[in-house]
Amino acid sequence: MEMAEKTVTEFYANHPISAPHILTKLTGIRGSLKDVTPQELYPYDQDHYDGLNANARLADKARMKSGDRVLDVCAGLCGPARWYATERDVDVTGLDISPNRVDGAKELNALVGLQDQVHPILGSAMDMPFDSAQFDAAVSQESFLHIPDKIKALSEVFRVLRPGSRFAFTDWVMHTPLPADEMELYHQRFACQSLLSIPEYETQLEKAGFMVVSAGDVTASWGEILARRLSMYQTLDAEAERAGNPSKGDTFLKMYAQFVSDVKQRRIGGVRLTAEKPE
Ligand SMILES: C[S@@+](CC[C@H](N)C(=O)[O-])C[C@H]1O[C@@H](n2cnc3c(N)ncnc32)[C@H](O)[C@@H]1O
Repeated sequence: MEMAEKTVTEFYANHPISAPHILTKLTGIRGSLKDVTPQELYPYDQDHYDGLNANARLADKARMKSGDRVLDVCAGLCGPARWYATERDVDVTGLDISPNRVDGAKELNALVGLQDQVHPILGSAMDMPFDSAQFDAAVSQESFLHIPDKIKALSEVFRVLRPGSRFAFTDWVMHTPLPADEMELYHQRFACQSLLSIPEYETQLEKAGFMVVSAGDVTASWGEILARRLSMYQTLDAEAERAGNPSKGDTFLKMYAQFVSDVKQRRIGGVRLTAEKPE
Protein backbone atom coordinates (compact mmCIF):
# COMPACT_ATOMS: atom_id res chain seq x y z
CA MET A 1 0.00 0.00 0.00
CA GLU A 2 1.26 3.50 -0.86
CA MET A 3 2.31 5.58 2.18
CA ALA A 4 -0.28 8.32 1.48
CA GLU A 5 -3.03 5.72 1.18
CA LYS A 6 -2.00 4.10 4.48
CA THR A 7 -2.07 7.48 6.29
CA VAL A 8 -5.60 8.11 4.96
CA THR A 9 -7.05 4.67 5.74
CA GLU A 10 -5.59 4.78 9.27
CA PHE A 11 -7.03 8.26 9.81
CA TYR A 12 -10.53 7.09 8.78
CA ALA A 13 -10.22 3.80 10.72
CA ASN A 14 -10.04 5.96 13.86
CA HIS A 15 -12.44 8.73 12.88
CA PRO A 16 -15.06 9.98 15.39
CA ILE A 17 -17.83 9.55 12.76
CA SER A 18 -18.23 5.79 12.14
CA ALA A 19 -20.98 3.28 11.29
CA PRO A 20 -20.79 1.54 14.72
CA HIS A 21 -21.08 4.90 16.46
CA ILE A 22 -24.10 5.89 14.33
CA LEU A 23 -25.82 2.56 15.00
CA THR A 24 -25.18 2.76 18.76
CA LYS A 25 -26.53 6.30 18.80
CA LEU A 26 -29.68 5.41 16.81
CA THR A 27 -30.36 2.34 18.96
CA GLY A 28 -30.10 4.53 22.05
CA ILE A 29 -32.54 7.09 20.60
CA ARG A 30 -35.20 4.79 19.04
CA GLY A 31 -34.73 1.51 20.98
CA SER A 32 -34.32 -0.69 17.86
CA LEU A 33 -32.94 -0.52 14.31
CA LYS A 34 -36.20 -1.65 12.67
CA ASP A 35 -37.56 0.42 9.72
CA VAL A 36 -34.93 3.16 9.93
CA THR A 37 -35.40 5.79 7.19
CA PRO A 38 -32.56 7.54 5.28
CA GLN A 39 -33.73 10.81 6.86
CA GLU A 40 -33.06 9.46 10.35
CA LEU A 41 -29.40 8.99 9.42
CA TYR A 42 -28.90 12.54 8.08
CA PRO A 43 -27.93 14.10 11.42
CA TYR A 44 -25.07 11.59 11.82
CA ASP A 45 -23.75 10.36 8.46
CA GLN A 46 -22.53 13.56 6.74
CA ASP A 47 -18.76 13.94 7.06
CA HIS A 48 -18.35 17.38 5.49
CA TYR A 49 -19.07 21.01 6.33
CA ASP A 50 -22.58 22.51 6.28
CA GLY A 51 -24.46 19.18 6.17
CA LEU A 52 -27.48 18.87 3.88
CA ASN A 53 -27.27 22.49 2.61
CA ALA A 54 -23.90 21.65 1.09
CA ASN A 55 -25.37 18.56 -0.64
CA ALA A 56 -28.20 20.61 -2.13
CA ARG A 57 -25.79 23.27 -3.45
CA LEU A 58 -23.54 20.67 -5.07
CA ALA A 59 -26.49 18.79 -6.57
CA ASP A 60 -27.67 22.05 -8.17
CA LYS A 61 -24.19 23.05 -9.35
CA ALA A 62 -23.65 19.59 -10.87
CA ARG A 63 -27.13 19.87 -12.51
CA MET A 64 -28.28 16.51 -11.11
CA LYS A 65 -31.64 15.38 -12.41
CA SER A 66 -33.89 12.43 -11.70
CA GLY A 67 -32.53 9.18 -13.11
CA ASP A 68 -28.93 10.41 -13.49
CA ARG A 69 -25.93 8.19 -12.76
CA VAL A 70 -23.87 10.16 -10.25
CA LEU A 71 -20.33 9.58 -9.00
CA ASP A 72 -19.43 10.70 -5.46
CA VAL A 73 -15.63 10.81 -5.35
CA CYS A 74 -14.34 9.90 -1.85
CA ALA A 75 -17.86 9.13 -0.63
CA GLY A 76 -17.00 8.05 2.92
CA LEU A 77 -19.96 6.35 4.63
CA CYS A 78 -22.11 7.42 1.63
CA GLY A 79 -24.11 9.89 3.75
CA PRO A 80 -24.30 12.47 0.92
CA ALA A 81 -24.80 9.63 -1.60
CA ARG A 82 -27.91 8.44 0.29
CA TRP A 83 -29.16 12.04 0.38
CA TYR A 84 -28.73 12.49 -3.41
CA ALA A 85 -30.42 9.13 -4.03
CA THR A 86 -33.36 9.93 -1.74
CA GLU A 87 -33.87 13.63 -2.35
CA ARG A 88 -32.78 13.91 -6.01
CA ASP A 89 -33.82 10.44 -7.22
CA VAL A 90 -30.45 9.54 -8.74
CA ASP A 91 -28.36 6.39 -8.79
CA VAL A 92 -25.09 6.99 -6.93
CA THR A 93 -21.73 5.23 -7.03
CA GLY A 94 -19.63 6.13 -4.00
CA LEU A 95 -15.91 5.57 -4.52
CA ASP A 96 -13.70 5.44 -1.41
CA ILE A 97 -10.24 4.18 -0.56
CA SER A 98 -10.90 3.26 3.11
CA PRO A 99 -12.24 -0.29 3.60
CA ASN A 100 -14.00 0.64 6.84
CA ARG A 101 -15.87 3.50 5.11
CA VAL A 102 -17.00 1.20 2.25
CA ASP A 103 -18.10 -1.55 4.68
CA GLY A 104 -19.86 1.00 6.89
CA ALA A 105 -21.60 2.52 3.84
CA LYS A 106 -22.90 -0.91 2.77
CA GLU A 107 -24.23 -1.57 6.27
CA LEU A 108 -26.02 1.80 6.43
CA ASN A 109 -27.43 1.42 2.88
CA ALA A 110 -28.90 -1.98 3.78
CA LEU A 111 -30.31 -0.58 7.03
CA VAL A 112 -32.39 2.01 5.14
CA GLY A 113 -33.12 -0.09 2.02
CA LEU A 114 -30.96 1.89 -0.42
CA GLN A 115 -28.63 -0.94 -1.45
CA ASP A 116 -29.97 -0.93 -5.04
CA GLN A 117 -29.59 2.83 -5.52
CA VAL A 118 -26.31 3.59 -3.72
CA HIS A 119 -23.21 1.55 -4.61
CA PRO A 120 -20.11 1.87 -2.40
CA ILE A 121 -16.96 0.84 -4.29
CA LEU A 122 -13.49 0.40 -2.82
CA GLY A 123 -10.86 2.14 -4.93
CA SER A 124 -8.62 5.13 -5.46
CA ALA A 125 -9.71 8.43 -6.98
CA MET A 126 -6.35 8.45 -8.80
CA ASP A 127 -7.10 5.18 -10.61
CA MET A 128 -10.86 4.68 -10.84
CA PRO A 129 -12.29 1.22 -11.49
CA PHE A 130 -14.84 2.60 -14.01
CA ASP A 131 -15.21 2.72 -17.79
CA SER A 132 -14.92 6.11 -19.48
CA ALA A 133 -17.88 8.49 -20.02
CA GLN A 134 -20.40 6.68 -17.84
CA PHE A 135 -21.52 9.27 -15.25
CA ASP A 136 -23.95 12.19 -15.75
CA ALA A 137 -22.58 14.19 -12.81
CA ALA A 138 -19.81 13.98 -10.21
CA VAL A 139 -19.47 15.51 -6.75
CA SER A 140 -16.99 15.46 -3.87
CA GLN A 141 -16.72 17.10 -0.45
CA GLU A 142 -13.59 17.99 1.57
CA SER A 143 -11.63 15.00 0.29
CA PHE A 144 -9.10 16.06 -2.34
CA LEU A 145 -6.89 17.36 0.49
CA HIS A 146 -6.11 13.66 1.11
CA ILE A 147 -5.09 13.03 -2.51
CA PRO A 148 -1.37 13.46 -3.26
CA ASP A 149 -1.68 13.74 -7.07
CA LYS A 150 -4.66 16.03 -7.67
CA ILE A 151 -4.21 16.33 -11.44
CA LYS A 152 -4.34 12.53 -11.68
CA ALA A 153 -7.62 12.41 -9.74
CA LEU A 154 -9.12 15.36 -11.67
CA SER A 155 -8.16 13.65 -14.95
CA GLU A 156 -9.91 10.49 -13.76
CA VAL A 157 -13.11 12.43 -12.94
CA PHE A 158 -12.89 14.02 -16.40
CA ARG A 159 -12.45 10.58 -18.04
CA VAL A 160 -15.47 8.93 -16.37
CA LEU A 161 -17.88 11.85 -16.97
CA ARG A 162 -20.02 12.08 -20.10
CA PRO A 163 -19.24 15.11 -22.33
CA GLY A 164 -21.37 18.09 -21.29
CA SER A 165 -21.64 16.96 -17.66
CA ARG A 166 -20.31 18.63 -14.52
CA PHE A 167 -18.08 18.03 -11.52
CA ALA A 168 -19.04 20.15 -8.47
CA PHE A 169 -16.94 19.85 -5.34
CA THR A 170 -15.63 21.51 -2.21
CA ASP A 171 -12.14 21.24 -0.78
CA TRP A 172 -9.62 22.82 1.54
CA VAL A 173 -7.34 25.41 -0.07
CA MET A 174 -4.25 27.27 1.08
CA HIS A 175 -4.48 31.07 0.94
CA THR A 176 -0.95 31.61 2.31
CA PRO A 177 1.84 29.05 1.91
CA LEU A 178 2.32 27.41 5.34
CA PRO A 179 5.81 26.70 6.74
CA ALA A 180 6.94 23.08 6.19
CA ASP A 181 6.66 22.15 9.88
CA GLU A 182 3.02 23.32 10.00
CA MET A 183 2.18 21.40 6.79
CA GLU A 184 3.80 18.34 8.32
CA LEU A 185 1.45 18.60 11.31
CA TYR A 186 -1.57 18.77 8.94
CA HIS A 187 -0.17 15.70 7.21
CA GLN A 188 0.26 13.77 10.46
CA ARG A 189 -2.98 14.80 12.14
CA PHE A 190 -5.44 15.09 9.20
CA ALA A 191 -3.81 12.88 6.55
CA CYS A 192 -3.61 16.07 4.46
CA GLN A 193 -1.28 15.36 1.49
CA SER A 194 -1.13 18.75 -0.23
CA LEU A 195 -3.16 21.92 -0.63
CA LEU A 196 -3.63 24.20 -3.64
CA SER A 197 -4.60 27.87 -3.80
CA ILE A 198 -7.87 28.69 -5.63
CA PRO A 199 -6.08 29.91 -8.82
CA GLU A 200 -3.89 26.76 -8.77
CA TYR A 201 -7.03 24.62 -8.53
CA GLU A 202 -8.53 26.39 -11.57
CA THR A 203 -5.32 25.76 -13.53
CA GLN A 204 -5.25 22.07 -12.55
CA LEU A 205 -8.90 21.64 -13.62
CA GLU A 206 -8.13 23.21 -16.99
CA LYS A 207 -5.06 20.99 -17.41
CA ALA A 208 -7.30 17.97 -16.78
CA GLY A 209 -9.50 19.16 -19.68
CA PHE A 210 -12.32 20.87 -17.77
CA MET A 211 -13.81 24.30 -18.37
CA VAL A 212 -14.14 26.10 -14.99
CA VAL A 213 -17.74 27.30 -14.48
CA SER A 214 -17.36 28.87 -11.02
CA ALA A 215 -14.92 29.06 -8.12
CA GLY A 216 -16.46 30.38 -4.89
CA ASP A 217 -14.32 31.17 -1.86
CA VAL A 218 -16.26 29.71 1.12
CA THR A 219 -13.63 30.40 3.80
CA ALA A 220 -15.69 32.93 5.78
CA SER A 221 -18.70 30.62 6.17
CA TRP A 222 -16.44 27.68 7.06
CA GLY A 223 -14.93 29.58 10.03
CA GLU A 224 -18.28 29.47 11.90
CA ILE A 225 -19.20 25.96 10.73
CA LEU A 226 -15.83 24.58 11.85
CA ALA A 227 -16.09 26.11 15.30
CA ARG A 228 -19.41 24.22 15.74
CA ARG A 229 -17.81 21.07 14.33
CA LEU A 230 -15.00 21.28 16.89
CA SER A 231 -17.53 21.25 19.72
CA MET A 232 -19.34 18.29 18.04
CA TYR A 233 -16.02 16.37 17.99
CA GLN A 234 -15.47 17.19 21.66
CA THR A 235 -18.90 15.69 22.45
CA LEU A 236 -18.35 12.62 20.21
CA ASP A 237 -14.95 12.05 21.79
CA ALA A 238 -16.45 12.04 25.29
CA GLU A 239 -19.27 9.71 24.10
CA ALA A 240 -16.77 7.31 22.49
CA GLU A 241 -14.80 7.13 25.73
CA ARG A 242 -17.96 6.44 27.74
CA ALA A 243 -18.93 3.69 25.24
CA GLY A 244 -15.50 2.06 25.74
CA ASN A 245 -14.17 2.94 22.24
CA PRO A 246 -10.70 4.42 21.89
CA SER A 247 -11.00 8.20 21.88
CA LYS A 248 -9.25 10.36 19.26
CA GLY A 249 -7.83 12.19 22.27
CA ASP A 250 -6.45 15.55 23.03
CA THR A 251 -3.98 15.71 20.14
CA PHE A 252 -6.69 15.50 17.46
CA LEU A 253 -8.86 18.06 19.25
CA LYS A 254 -5.92 20.47 19.73
CA MET A 255 -5.01 20.16 16.04
CA TYR A 256 -8.65 20.72 15.07
CA ALA A 257 -8.65 23.91 17.18
CA GLN A 258 -5.49 25.00 15.28
CA PHE A 259 -7.29 24.30 11.98
CA VAL A 260 -10.29 26.40 13.04
CA SER A 261 -7.92 29.23 13.95
CA ASP A 262 -6.04 28.95 10.61
CA VAL A 263 -9.35 29.17 8.72
CA LYS A 264 -10.51 32.16 10.77
CA GLN A 265 -7.19 33.90 9.95
CA ARG A 266 -7.59 32.97 6.23
CA ARG A 267 -4.32 31.04 6.13
CA ILE A 268 -6.27 27.92 5.09
CA GLY A 269 -9.80 28.03 3.66
CA GLY A 270 -12.36 26.43 1.42
CA VAL A 271 -13.48 26.55 -2.19
CA ARG A 272 -16.59 25.39 -4.03
CA LEU A 273 -15.66 24.62 -7.64
CA THR A 274 -17.84 23.71 -10.58
CA ALA A 275 -16.24 22.44 -13.78
CA GLU A 276 -17.71 21.13 -17.02
CA LYS A 277 -16.44 18.52 -19.47
CA PRO A 278 -16.88 20.17 -22.87
CA GLU A 279 -19.20 18.48 -25.43
C1 LIG B 1 -13.95 14.02 4.72
S1 LIG B 1 -14.36 12.38 4.18
C2 LIG B 1 -15.74 12.79 3.16
C3 LIG B 1 -16.79 11.70 3.11
C4 LIG B 1 -18.08 12.08 2.39
N1 LIG B 1 -17.81 12.76 1.13
C5 LIG B 1 -18.99 12.92 3.22
O1 LIG B 1 -19.11 14.12 2.92
O2 LIG B 1 -19.60 12.39 4.17
C6 LIG B 1 -13.06 12.03 3.00
C7 LIG B 1 -13.08 10.63 2.40
O3 LIG B 1 -12.12 10.57 1.35
C8 LIG B 1 -11.62 9.25 1.26
N2 LIG B 1 -10.38 9.27 0.46
C9 LIG B 1 -9.22 9.89 0.77
N3 LIG B 1 -8.31 9.72 -0.21
C10 LIG B 1 -8.92 8.99 -1.19
C11 LIG B 1 -8.51 8.51 -2.46
N4 LIG B 1 -7.28 8.71 -2.94
N5 LIG B 1 -9.40 7.82 -3.21
C12 LIG B 1 -10.66 7.58 -2.74
N6 LIG B 1 -11.10 8.00 -1.52
C13 LIG B 1 -10.25 8.70 -0.75
C14 LIG B 1 -11.44 8.86 2.72
O4 LIG B 1 -11.33 7.47 2.89
C15 LIG B 1 -12.70 9.48 3.35
O5 LIG B 1 -13.73 8.55 3.46
